[in-house]
Amino acid sequence: MTAFLLVTDLDNTLVGDDEAMSVLNQRLSQHRQEHGTKIVYSTGRSPALYRQLTTEKSLLQPDALVTSVGTEICFNPVEEVFDSNWAQMLSNGWNREEVVATAAHYADLTPQPESEQRPFKVSYFLGEQIATEVLPRLESALKEKGLDVKLVYSGSQDLDILPRQGDKGLAVQFLRQKWGIDAAQTVVCGDSGNDIALFSVGEERGIIVGNAKAELCQWYNSHKTDNHYLAQAHCAGGILEGLHHFGFLGN
Ligand code: GLC
Ligand code: MG
Repeated sequence: MTAFLLVTDLDNTLVGDDEAMSVLNQRLSQHRQEHGTKIVYSTGRSPALYRQLTTEKSLLQPDALVTSVGTEICFNPVEEVFDSNWAQMLSNGWNREEVVATAAHYADLTPQPESEQRPFKVSYFLGEQIATEVLPRLESALKEKGLDVKLVYSGSQDLDILPRQGDKGLAVQFLRQKWGIDAAQTVVCGDSGNDIALFSVGEERGIIVGNAKAELCQWYNSHKTDNHYLAQAHCAGGILEGLHHFGFLGN
C-alpha cells in the first residue's frame, strides 16, 4: 500500500457518526505512520469554530487545515499560522468592502455571525425559497462592479462570497503542488455545496457520503465519472466505504 492524500470536509462528512469516525481515525493514523499518508481537514468553519469542534470531538491532528471554505490554509493549526503565499494569491483583485457594500442592498441576506466573516470570505444566511431569485441578481450586481468573486450556496441556507481564486478545490491543488502528490493519489470527501469545488477542480478521486445534501447529489448525477463514488454509508462510514472502493486501504 502506498501513501495518499486524504482531504475531508468536517461537518456531516468526517463528523456525524462518532463510532465510524473513531474506526476511520484509527485506520488513517496507522496509514500515516506506516506509509506517510497525509490528512487534510477542509471546512467551511472559521478557525474559531474549528477550535470549538476540536473540544467536542476527537479529531486527529491534520497535516494541513483548510478553513473558511478554502480561503485559509494552515500547516500549524495549533498556532494558527496562515500560509501567506495562499493569502497573497487570494488578495489579487479582491475588494472585501465593495462586496459587503453591494450585498447590503439585498434585504433577504442576513449576515452570519462576526466569527464567520473572514478576510477572504463574506457570509450570509439566505432562505432556499428566495435563493433562486436572489443569487443571479446578486451575481450580476457584483459582476457589474467589476468584482471577481464566486458565490457558493450550501445546505439550502449558507451563502459564501469568496475571491475567484479561492475555494476548497483550489486549496487542494495548492497543497498537491506543494507536496508533489498526484491527483490519482488524492481523495476528497464531502457532503454539501461548498464541497462541489473539491470534486470539480480536477482528476482527484472523490467520495460523496451517503447523507450528502441535494445540491451535491444533483451535481454528482449530472457530472458522472468513475473518479467519483457515491457511498451508501453516512459520514465517516461513507469515507471508509469509498477508501475501500478506490483501493486506498486495500480492497
Ligand atoms: C460553515 C461556516 C459558514 C459557511 C458554511 C458553508 O458552516 O461556519 O460560515 O457559510 O460553512 O460554507
Ligand atoms: Mg459538510
